[in-house]
Amino acid sequence: MQHVSRYHPLLVTLHWVLAFLIIAALTLGFFGLAATPNADPQKIGILRVHMAGGMLILALMGIRFIVRMLTSRPADATTGYPVLDRIAPISRYGFYVLVLLMAGTGYATGILAGLPAIVFGGSGAPLPPTFLIYPTRVAHGFIATLLVGFIILHVLAAFYHQFVRKDGLFRRMFFGRRVSNPSVPAE
Ligand code: HEM
Repeated sequence: MQHVSRYHPLLVTLHWVLAFLIIAALTLGFFGLAATPNADPQKIGILRVHMAGGMLILALMGIRFIVRMLTSRPADATTGYPVLDRIAPISRYGFYVLVLLMAGTGYATGILAGLPAIVFGGSGAPLPPTFLIYPTRVAHGFIATLLVGFIILHVLAAFYHQFVRKDGLFRRMFFGRRVSNPSVPAE
């Protein structure tokens, strides 16, 4: 495949929008939803934002995957350690798998608890006392913690490239002139 100096601008946009949305969904989940009892009248409003945001993340992730397949991208950055280079793709595809599992378990919990009618249909029915009776909700919490771990590793790896190897990795995931077959990968 022909290599370029930066990712496609649409992919750059999707990367940063998704980074924001995923961190927002995690923050709202851990500090908004999990900390608010189901009897609290504000809970339905928080669920509405979280569920709609989660489905938007899933849709954008699908578009991102397609754009990534169809556009040329920079050559894989090297860490200088072949073992680390080999696990890099696992972490990259891991994000797709984890986000898919988050949306899947969240959606399944919503269906099991009859949330579409309560949260979006305004049925007026009460929420169940807790969502933790559903195995999908328990899985949703575990996978969310795993996702936080992946995000921390991802950020550490990006900082390692940028500040230790000084290979200009951040520039590749930003807007600017795209050069084909660059001799210096990140220029
Ligand atoms: C990438 C997408 C998503 C992320 C990052 C995410 C994150 C979270 C987190 C961190 C929690 C709290 C977990 C805990 O404290 O153990 C949570 C709870 C929850 N999420 Fe999601 N979520 C996502 C997508 C969805 C979707 C698509 C739905 C439904 C359509 C959904 C429905 C729920 C529900 C019902 C709860 C339980 C709230 C409670 O127990 O009070 N989530 N989510």
